[in-house]
Amino acid sequence: MRAVAEKDIGSAIAVAGHPVHAMLVHFPIALVVSTLGTDLFYWWTGDTFWLEVGTWAAAFAFIFGVVAALAGTLELLAVPGIRVRVASWNHAVAAMVLLAITAANAGLRIHMPDQVLPSGLALSLLSTMAAGFAGWHGGKLVFDHGVGLIISTRQ
Ligand code: HEM
Repeated sequence: MRAVAEKDIGSAIAVAGHPVHAMLVHFPIALVVSTLGTDLFYWWTGDTFWLEVGTWAAAFAFIFGVVAALAGTLELLAVPGIRVRVASWNHAVAAMVLLAITAANAGLRIHMPDQVLPSGLALSLLSTMAAGFAGWHGGKLVFDHGVGLIISTRQ
C-alpha cells in the first residue's frame, strides 16, 4: 500500500498543470447523451432532421472519445502512480467498452440509417450507461485517489 501511495500521481499530459484528459472527456460524454436525445426526438416526431443530427453526434462522440482516450492512455503510461493503480485499469477497460459501443453506434447510422429505430436507440441507451460507468470510474481516480490534482500551497 505504502509503495503505491509513494508514487507520483501528478498529471504528465497537462496544460499549466491541468490534465488534458479531464478537459477533453466532457465532449464525448455530452455527445453520447445528445445522440440518445436525438433518437428520442426522432422516435417522437419521425422527423429525419433528428436522424441526421444523431449521425453527426454519434460520429463526433466516437472521434472525441478516441482523442480523449489517447490523452488518457498517455497519462496512464507516463505516470507511475496512475499505472500501478487497479482503479486506472478498471477505468481504461470501461472506457474501451464505451468506445466500442460508440463506434458501433456511429457505424450503424452511417451504413444502416433505417436501423436507427430500434437498434440505434438501444446502442445509444447502452453507450449512455457505459459513459456513466466509465465516467464514474474516471471520477474515482480524481476524487478518491487524487490523480492529477493541484493542491494549493496557500492553504
Ligand atoms: C484507455 C482510455 C483511457 C484512459 C487510460 C483514461 C485514464 C484516465 C486518467 C489517468 C484519469 C485521471 C485524470 C487525469 O490524470 O487525466 C481519468 C479521468 C477521467 N476519465 Fe479517463 N481515460 C480513458 C478514457 C476515457 C474516456 C473515453 C472517457 C469518457 C468519454 C473518460 C472519462 C473520464 C472522466 C470523466 C474522468 C474524471 C475527470 C475529472 O473528474 O476531472 N476517460 N481517465
